[in-house]
Amino acid sequence: MDRSQGRVAGAGGDATAPVETFSGNRGLQLEELLIFEQDSPGRSGVDLPEPPAVKSRLAGLERRRPIGLPGLSEPQVVQHYTRLSQKNYAIDSGLYPLGSCTMKHNPRLNEKMARLPGFADIHPLQPLSTVPGAIELIDALAHWLKTLTGMPAVALSPAAGAHGELCGMVTIRAALEARGEADRRKRVLVPESAHGTNPATAASLGFTVEAIPANDEGRVDLAAFKAALGPDVAAIMLTNPNTCGLFERDIKTVADAVHEAGGYFYCDGANFNAIVGRVRPGDLGIDCMHINLHKTFSTPHGGGGPGSGPVVLSAALAPYAPWPLVVHDGGNARIVEEGGAVDLLEGGKPFGRLKAFHGQMGMFVRALAYMLSHGSDGLAQVATDAVLNANYVLAKLKDVMSPAFAGTCMHEALFDDDFLKGTGVSTLDFAKAMIDEGYHPMTMYFPLVVHGALLIEPTETQSKDALDRFVATLRYLAEQAHQQGAAARFHAAPLLAPRRRLDETLAARKPVLRWKPPAPKAQAAE
Ligand SMILES: Cc1ncc(COP(=O)(O)O)c(C=O)c1O
Repeated sequence: MDRSQGRVAGAGGDATAPVETFSGNRGLQLEELLIFEQDSPGRSGVDLPEPPAVKSRLAGLERRRPIGLPGLSEPQVVQHYTRLSQKNYAIDSGLYPLGSCTMKHNPRLNEKMARLPGFADIHPLQPLSTVPGAIELIDALAHWLKTLTGMPAVALSPAAGAHGELCGMVTIRAALEARGEADRRKRVLVPESAHGTNPATAASLGFTVEAIPANDEGRVDLAAFKAALGPDVAAIMLTNPNTCGLFERDIKTVADAVHEAGGYFYCDGANFNAIVGRVRPGDLGIDCMHINLHKTFSTPHGGGGPGSGPVVLSAALAPYAPWPLVVHDGGNARIVEEGGAVDLLEGGKPFGRLKAFHGQMGMFVRALAYMLSHGSDGLAQVATDAVLNANYVLAKLKDVMSPAFAGTCMHEALFDDDFLKGTGVSTLDFAKAMIDEGYHPMTMYFPLVVHGALLIEPTETQSKDALDRFVATLRYLAEQAHQQGAAARFHAAPLLAPRRRLDETLAARKPVLRWKPPAPKAQAAE
């Protein structure tokens, strides 16, 4: 790989001319080899005594070849990982406007609570009698989630939003089985404005997914939805607020209609941040909804986890919630494991288990710390401020960018690529140019119902100053895109990032996930 691709604008009068350095570094942005490429065989950061010569009891199963770890000194290891960490853009680095992700500040108080030894050092296989505090915390979190959503039950074990969807849809299937209708109710309706994981979840469970179009306002087309209902419909999976950043105004009509047709109402509640403390989903007729603790309740996410996607359930679905269950026995919270204390379940028929143990304990601690530190009024303020910030961005950009839909939005501001028409600059080019300006791009080309979509979710944790700087940069870029000859600069962006444009399709289709030692060089001819 060419590791010295750095270019800075303006060199030699050519905006895209390369500026190469001897070292490959650019300023204090240091190039970093893979740790295996830094290998010095035999070098080590630790000094262990020679093991005593004992006779192996592994009956020939012992490793005979070197383990293949690179040899590095301690400072080399520290520098390597520090440099890698500095390449990471994170919510702690600056504004992270990635739509649909709710990249908000993770309060340090939550981190401190999660690291308390009483929470951090317990083991899931410890006898439950030794961890009453943890069980109480799980119960308190369940109480908050039920109260905030107005739903009577919650399954806490799902490990992420999509996992919560799986949990919810399996619960619905279990309820249909109990009604003897699982075989005939095979269709799941999914509005085009729903998150992509919704149809994927339904399809992976063997349901037939039927897309319901969005109307001109970016909301579910009610007439098309009603026309699609029938005795074979298991459920609708609707995201609210939806992926266009809009509240589904007809949500109660949707709930009534699906119930009348004998189906269930699954709501994707990953965008709960926009309505927490302001609306209780249970009052909207929802049967089942997952909540991303790693979004609304500020537990850290990105880079693959860990997440947590509890699912709240209506009275109709609560009996089918998966093991383990938290029950109240003589005033005390108790965790009931598979097959245990069935008498406490009041007719419940759990559908089974979703994962080992009770869920993501560290996330539970962080989420509850967030809830308790905000209080119910503070959580309502979160939603208010998140919506205010998104509308501020929308209002400040609407004359230079093109809002996808008229009117105000909820937690995210959505633009289409109309404002780039005739410039030769695409949504992708625009996003890459943001990187040169020090901004992580917004979500691009999603939702699919909007051409060349640019989806900005500022969250409530950004100050007005931070939003003003962001808006000023986007206004500048939008105006630049219309300048004569500016397209080349956009096509070349990012010019200042450690790497330029990568072949993302190739990386996704043929990921190289393992380092392989280079093939030995051919012997020089003698
Ligand atoms: C609306 C919506 N639904 C579902 C998900 C899936 O959640 P996860 O990535 O935790 O599986 C997301 C992800 O952020 C989302 O934004």
